[in-house]
Amino acid sequence: MPRPLQVALIGAKFMGRAHSNAWRQAGCFFDLPRPIALHTIAARDAQELEAFAAQWGWPNWTVRWKDIAEDTSIDLVDIGTPNHVHKEQALAMLEAGKHVACEKPLASTLAEARDMKDAAKRAKGKTFVWFNYRRCPAVALAHQLVAEGRLGSIYHVRAHYLQSWGGPKTPLSWRFDKKRAGSGAHGDLNAHIVDMTRFVTGEEITEVHGAVARTFIKERVRPGSTAKRPGKGKSTVDDAVLFLASLTNGATASFEATRLAAGHQNRNSIEINGSKGSLRFDFEDMNVLWFHDETESPRTAGWRRIMCTNVAGQHPYAENWWPDAHVLGYEHGFTNMAADIVRALSRKKPTVALPDFASAYETQRVLEAALISAKERCAIKMREVR
Ligand SMILES: NC(=O)c1ccc[n+]([C@@H]2O[C@H](COP(=O)([O-])OP(=O)(O)OC[C@H]3O[C@@H](n4cnc5c(N)ncnc54)[C@H](O)[C@@H]3O)[C@@H](O)[C@H]2O)c1
Repeated sequence: MPRPLQVALIGAKFMGRAHSNAWRQAGCFFDLPRPIALHTIAARDAQELEAFAAQWGWPNWTVRWKDIAEDTSIDLVDIGTPNHVHKEQALAMLEAGKHVACEKPLASTLAEARDMKDAAKRAKGKTFVWFNYRRCPAVALAHQLVAEGRLGSIYHVRAHYLQSWGGPKTPLSWRFDKKRAGSGAHGDLNAHIVDMTRFVTGEEITEVHGAVARTFIKERVRPGSTAKRPGKGKSTVDDAVLFLASLTNGATASFEATRLAAGHQNRNSIEINGSKGSLRFDFEDMNVLWFHDETESPRTAGWRRIMCTNVAGQHPYAENWWPDAHVLGYEHGFTNMAADIVRALSRKKPTVALPDFASAYETQRVLEAALISAKERCAIKMREVR
């Protein structure tokens, strides 16, 4: 029996739950080259942490994340903390010789992301970034169909990620603080659809032609403020960012991210038009990929609704889960990724490519180009952004 991969996780809230679940489930649903062992969970609040560790099965917990770097029995450190701490934690773990799986966006600034990419290049350990949507079966299938040439030459990409939770009643948190988040909807949501575009098309962004960034809600209630003791603070990030770009093959691409799209709760969506056909995906109907084959007779051609959990159809990850069309959810993307990480660490091929720090740095460069473009009101060539 190979030695288990000992995993530690920093961050015990939203992503803490998603990642704990993934590390627990991956070995149950995938035939992995080595088992996974949950070792230590770290975060800031000791009281919450103790309960979290008990609930999710972490045998050890600590409020001193640096202890993890010193523990030689830990192989991989998973970082699910706010963006401004990714760099310090990732660098400490890479220097300690550990593998690192970090949440997106890679960092709160491009300079931090560059330091992380450079540290990863020097390090012994491997790096991974949780662009989990690559591992929805429908998105992975879209990537395969494009790679097989089923869309021909790609002309247009239209990607948008619309959420609605950021209205005026939503209180301040690190997500509205530029120093901690880096940006708002942009780093949070555009990061995902830039990665998805790069992944599905296999093309890189060459230029950002123009961008608009808006902060509609400039002040927000401080958490814990009451009618008796009201308190407001400034939101220093964007609520929405839109931009136009070109891809390496000459295709046009548009990106749009907002947290103020009432009625669109998690509409992470991509549409691709090529010379031989088109694809569209919307996470709110995440098991489905829409495909139009332009080479078919116009008499019967039309949009085909593909339920992407078909075992006989060899849809990515389908065989690891349930019978056909018994559908997957949000958490499965993370579990699929945890399984692929374990495979990659044993020199086995992941189902689809895993983004590392170098790849996430490319996505961060695109985000930076859009922010510069919005500020300077001009086009930015990607080669100008380092
Ligand atoms: N892949 C995705 O779809 C996805 C979704 C949501 C969030 N994220 C990313 O995950 C990261 C975490 O987001 P979240 O929503 O889980 O945040 P959160 O606020 O829900 O949780 C943050 C956790 O980090 C801990 N923490 C904060 N500062 C720390 C420090 N200095 N040292 C140790 N622990 C610290 C907190 O105690 C908390 O447990 C962010 O980078 C975010 O962009 C990714």
